[in-house]
Amino acid sequence: MSRRRRIYEGKAKVLFEGPEPGTLVQYFKDDASAFNNQKKGTITGKGVLNNRISEYLMTKLGEIGVPTHFVRRLNMREQLVREVEIIPLEVVIRNVVAGSLSKRFGMPEGTQLPRSIVEYYYKSDELNDPMVSEEHITAFGWATPQDIDEILAMSLRINDFLLGLFLGVGLRLVDFKLEFGRLYENEEMRLVLADEISPDNCRLWDTKTGEKLDKDRFRRDLGNVEEAYQEVARRLGILPEGGPRDMKGPATMQ
Ligand code: TMP
Repeated sequence: MSRRRRIYEGKAKVLFEGPEPGTLVQYFKDDASAFNNQKKGTITGKGVLNNRISEYLMTKLGEIGVPTHFVRRLNMREQLVREVEIIPLEVVIRNVVAGSLSKRFGMPEGTQLPRSIVEYYYKSDELNDPMVSEEHITAFGWATPQDIDEILAMSLRINDFLLGLFLGVGLRLVDFKLEFGRLYENEEMRLVLADEISPDNCRLWDTKTGEKLDKDRFRRDLGNVEEAYQEVARRLGILPEGGPRDMKGPATMQ
């Protein structure tokens, strides 16, 4: 790891210079944080599972024509991705009331929304990721109105697809967060899905019992955090061979 140039280190991932120009290696850590870094911890095996889960979901989305930054998984904790210019927005798609939506409007968690809600937050740890409107986004030059139309259309398509995919394995996709980036190719710019999709940035509830199988177990000290991530991977049929014990080390598996 140390031989490569580190481009960026986030809370849950590190980005290294990739093997070819225009590529990056995305390394998934076991570190977990919540409430804008006020709560920190480790979820053993999370990096390995999120690498797999994100690979699986990005590949499936690619198959239905959603452009993504994902190229291929390199090993247990790393994947090769296209280098993009990240749009500084967190796009949150909600199907069910939970989390900050529940707090903001005093609505009980679990209320089914009559239609999906898309919200935008400005990515800034210093400012605590404030919620922004399209007006802010265009006025401050983070994205154009056309970009926003595209981001919204892609987000709703991703939501439709993932709702069905998770429902098929007994999980209710309550809400999730996406990030998009600009990919420059032959003088042209394309918006692509970037970052990751995993239980770190989704709320997933068991359809029968309502049990939370996502990062809320860590945020709210509900226990069995590792098991919840494993259960999501297991249901998707992608637990690393050898089971959970296979998930501790960054063993290379080309
Ligand atoms: P919220 O209810 O806390 O606003 O979160 C909505 C969804 O977005 C939830 O699935 C968790 C995800 N999320 C992130 O991935 N990163 C963040 O920084 C925040 C605030 C939420």
